[in-house]
Amino acid sequence: MFRPLLKYDYDFMAARRVGRFGFKDSEISKLGGKLKAFNKKHKADKNNPDLSFCRLPYDRDSVKQISKLARRLRRKFKNLVVVGIGGSDLGAKAIYQALAGDFANLKSNRGKNLKVYFIGDTVDPEPMADLLKILNLKETVFYIVSKSGETIEPLASFLFLRKKLIWKTGYKKHKEHFIITTNPGKGVLFDIAEKEGYLLAEHYAGGGRFSVLSVNGLLPAACAGFEISDLLAGARAMAKNAKRNNQWKNLPFFFASLQYLAYKKRKQSISVLMPYAYYLRNFAFWFRQLWGESLAKEFNLKNKKVNLGLTPIAALGPTDQHSQIQLYNEGPHDKIITFIKVGGFPNNFKVPKYKDSAAIYLAGHKFKEILNIEQRATAVSLMKNKRPNGAIILPALNEYYLGQLFYFFEMAALYLGELLEINVFNQPGVEQSKKYMYGLLGKEGYEKDKKEINNF
Ligand code: PA5
Repeated sequence: MFRPLLKYDYDFMAARRVGRFGFKDSEISKLGGKLKAFNKKHKADKNNPDLSFCRLPYDRDSVKQISKLARRLRRKFKNLVVVGIGGSDLGAKAIYQALAGDFANLKSNRGKNLKVYFIGDTVDPEPMADLLKILNLKETVFYIVSKSGETIEPLASFLFLRKKLIWKTGYKKHKEHFIITTNPGKGVLFDIAEKEGYLLAEHYAGGGRFSVLSVNGLLPAACAGFEISDLLAGARAMAKNAKRNNQWKNLPFFFASLQYLAYKKRKQSISVLMPYAYYLRNFAFWFRQLWGESLAKEFNLKNKKVNLGLTPIAALGPTDQHSQIQLYNEGPHDKIITFIKVGGFPNNFKVPKYKDSAAIYLAGHKFKEILNIEQRATAVSLMKNKRPNGAIILPALNEYYLGQLFYFFEMAALYLGELLEINVFNQPGVEQSKKYMYGLLGKEGYEKDKKEINNF
């Protein structure tokens, strides 16, 4: 079955539409010379662990293993709780919301499909207490994800939940309720998993924010009943596109070029992602982390201090038309906006007629049509105010197009980092606060950090 690629409509990003705030074909063209070299480098660098996310769409063996494990879990349990933070849970969260919606966990049961919950991205005790009130622990499997195996929030939650399970099921049985994904061979989580004999599903070689198409995202998705092979098929279609050396045809590179020009040449340092699909809210949060951690750095690849960064904003249409659009239309010219539009929703409703009322103009219009009209009106008003905006158009919101979308943004982040000459894979800026936390919590080796923070 032929399935097209998602589309990127950049008409309102162009100078012919938004004047000096937009971009000319000639300046976009100039960046094209770099694409071939980037693609050549990616091909040659195939053993670089950072780039291992590029191999995930082709990893059919993992799909088989994950599906097998998911089948077993679906037979045995009713709930799966993901315990992770940042790159370790944002992808899985985005998939679950996009494909199951917001209310799936309120159903009395999901048949053979597990209900998926997320905890461990905070040590706020309230959500933990609330979750424990509704979960039957005997019907629940916990999926603990932490690449480093050292991150405080999931680790604290895991240790707490482990104890709860031991109380509930007894020591021997509790082990069946935990699956752990972490770096093999190092980290406290790995040590515990090995010592206790928990089922270990190794973390892939790359980093958290590029991990959605690895076991991190795929295991919860498969347990929830989604077609994980289709997620990867969509990603493969986008990977094929990203191998193209034609800058006008390579969608992630083209998108990255516009983000680069906006940042470098127009002082538009804020990149808004605004899906017109309610269930892509968590996708926008996934994007926010990808952009925020990958594309903001103190030093460039030549070790020159640059302090650069694109500030990502996760917005939502039409909700934020009543919250943010005033700012986007009349505030500083420091933003570019990307909408996501979905071609077809499985449901649609018609506004009924209410006679003799000023609401009569709404009668007969379908919800989907109104949503499209709202997006169009917003895009045109922004364009009229010389605010560059573009739209990613998905034919449908399903596994296949979600796979394309994830891979599109991952490759765009990679290209954008290359254009900006920074390392997209590290995050030195989060290390200092981690060291202070370890110091204050009494971890060995962080005494100096404890002293330093206490001095402040
Ligand atoms: O993208 C990243 O690498 C980070 O956001 C991590 O995913 C996050 O800090 C969690 O780390 P870990 O998976 O080691 O617990």
